[in-house]
Amino acid sequence: MTNEAIPNLTAFDEAALDQAFGVVGQQARNNAASLDSPEAAEAFRLRWFGRKQGLLNEISSRWLNSAPPEFKKPVGERFKKLKELVERLLHEATGAGPSDAALAAESIDITLPGTRRLTGAEHPITRTLNEITQVFAALGYSVGVGPEVETDYYNFESMNFPPDHPARDTQDTLVVAGQERRPLRDRLLLRTHTSPVQMRTMELQPPPVRIIIPGKIHRNDAADATHSPIFHQVEGLCVDTNITFSDLKGTLDHAMKALFGSAVKTRFFPSFFPFTEPSADLQISCIFCGGKGCRKCKHSGWIELLGCGMVDPAVFAFAAEKQAAYDAKKISGFAFGMGADRIAMMKYGVSEMGQFFAGDMRFLGQFA
Ligand code: DAH
Repeated sequence: MTNEAIPNLTAFDEAALDQAFGVVGQQARNNAASLDSPEAAEAFRLRWFGRKQGLLNEISSRWLNSAPPEFKKPVGERFKKLKELVERLLHEATGAGPSDAALAAESIDITLPGTRRLTGAEHPITRTLNEITQVFAALGYSVGVGPEVETDYYNFESMNFPPDHPARDTQDTLVVAGQERRPLRDRLLLRTHTSPVQMRTMELQPPPVRIIIPGKIHRNDAADATHSPIFHQVEGLCVDTNITFSDLKGTLDHAMKALFGSAVKTRFFPSFFPFTEPSADLQISCIFCGGKGCRKCKHSGWIELLGCGMVDPAVFAFAAEKQAAYDAKKISGFAFGMGADRIAMMKYGVSEMGQFFAGDMRFLGQFA
């Protein structure tokens, strides 16, 4: 690139201007002819567009500023054309002019598809918990919650599991370490069922109570296709005057039909839970075969779904320590608890419980 100086302008008539601009224009073309590398293009850009020593600046200050007023217009017009020429030369050499270069770096190609965000969706367990909760909310039940890190008192003692009672062994418990110096009732553990929220609710309000409690629970169970150390229950409690076993049966029969379809039948079997007396297990007619018998119901036609019973007077006695109105001579109630994960597996045809907790988007995405 030769470094010709910009000549002085001595005359401002058309011919003199054409001549002078013709010379610098040619100079620019000559310069641009050898732009075969990004470095050469950058040198060209600096030489012509440089803020301080660029030739265009020099031409503008020497020719344009020195032109007598009546010649400013013809000089200005030619200067504009020259600048366009140099911009075009640079653009052709690099694919971008000086301002275009900056623009291109920032510009957005609006023809490209946008960045698609994944649409959030309810987790199938959350959806199941909500569906069950809805059925009872429609019956006038309110929704309760309680802590997952619970005391021995609420999880066991107040639910009528005395210390050292063998019924505690039915719920393999994960305990918080380093609690030995505390009295047993204050020791912390991960709640093994949602039943402690029954007591927490009764301590806060006198009867009548109608409450539904969806929640996460923990047990020291090894994971397999149908077990997980973390799972979910929905607990229910109804306390009022004159609540009978018929109310329990009617309420749960309605809830099962609302959840699984009106063709579903229910039946009750005697069972045992420390906090209910009498206690029962509820079975529904198999939702897969309609009760004929299939692999899912182990050819019995029935599927066991939840535990329930009439609230044990011993439980009311614990509640009465805080709320005297829980007098078992004056009120009665029923309670129930169901495993939400098994229900979700049935509803959505999932064969491995672990899938719910593995966080695999290919699995979860199917529920979006
Ligand atoms: N808490 C029991 C469990 O985890 C389930 C249960 C059974 C809850 C009977 C109840 C009930 O409220 O009345 O296995």
